[in-house]
Amino acid sequence: MPSWVFWKGILMACSSKEPRRPEGPDILDTRMVLKFSHTPVMLSEVVSFLKCSARKLYVDATVGGGGHAKAILEASQPSGRLFGIDQDPDAVRAALENLKLFGNRVTIRQGSFSKIGNLVRETYSGCIDGMLLDLGVSSYQLDMPLRGFSFGKAGPLDMRMNPDLPMSAADVVRDCNEEELAGIIFEFGEERYAKRIANGIVKRRRISPIVTTQDLVQVVLASVPPAARRGKIHPATRTFQALRIYVNNELGELKNFLEDAPSLLCPEGRLVIIDYHSLEDRLVKRAFRDWERRGGYKVVTKRVVTPSDEETRKNRRSRSAKLRVLEREDQYE
Ligand SMILES: C[S@@+](CC[C@H](N)C(=O)[O-])C[C@H]1O[C@@H](n2cnc3c(N)ncnc32)[C@H](O)[C@@H]1O
Repeated sequence: MPSWVFWKGILMACSSKEPRRPEGPDILDTRMVLKFSHTPVMLSEVVSFLKCSARKLYVDATVGGGGHAKAILEASQPSGRLFGIDQDPDAVRAALENLKLFGNRVTIRQGSFSKIGNLVRETYSGCIDGMLLDLGVSSYQLDMPLRGFSFGKAGPLDMRMNPDLPMSAADVVRDCNEEELAGIIFEFGEERYAKRIANGIVKRRRISPIVTTQDLVQVVLASVPPAARRGKIHPATRTFQALRIYVNNELGELKNFLEDAPSLLCPEGRLVIIDYHSLEDRLVKRAFRDWERRGGYKVVTKRVVTPSDEETRKNRRSRSAKLRVLEREDQYE
């Protein structure tokens, strides 16, 4: 099936029924019980590639709990400013709290980075000296059972970074047909047993609904061959990744960002992107090359930058990170 089906077709096909909030305790009331915690990846590399200094304006388009943002603000004392964006209201609350010591040097807004052009233009009139995009989910989102991102935590099968998104992962496994599910799991999870898992989902939901992370884990475990249960990664890893990417339209969001963000940069302004899987990395690499070919931009990282052994030892979640940098060369019109 051509891949555009997954950008457009399945979204339509699978969202035809009423979206439903996954079952479980009231999510909003209990969400902030867990302290927002996340270790920023390749922190010193980010600060150094952004050439942080005073009087400059930086955008952190995935501000999360503000870990990178704090380091950028510290490195651009006393007058560097930072505009932080996140689609998750929990992240916005955490960033506001963690960055309040920087006073009016910081502005935080809830929004999607696919709308980066509008968000920046509504807030500032000039160009941006440095921009950061640190993709994926935060440790807080993964560790918070009620967000439903992790196969290791029992909770509602939700996975929405922005709780206002129309469809949760439970809606997807309820509404998509077998072929669509197999397509999503194969395309976004690169899961070799996608067809078996899709078949397992459809059989299971005829008997009882799949509404929790553990319901889905059981289906995956029962669907894959025994050898796959003994592999290095948990058999449900790729299925969870696929549903998360699909529910949050992660690749569509990234594509839109890559079309707009470089044009917001000042001359010598830099865009730093950290991605965590091959589907994202392919898009970033291609887009940076395209901007360079068009002229006025250069790819600073001729070789992709990865975390040191020490960092991956200390922070396992950094192990798949890849960092790339694009710089604007010309005077812009
Ligand atoms: C890896 S975390 C960023 C952590 C942050 N750099 C820090 O140091 O705390 C990724 C963040 O991006 C946010 N995010 C993901 N997709 C987004 C999108 N399309 N628009 C806005 N924020 C998004 C997530 O909600 C999450 O908080």
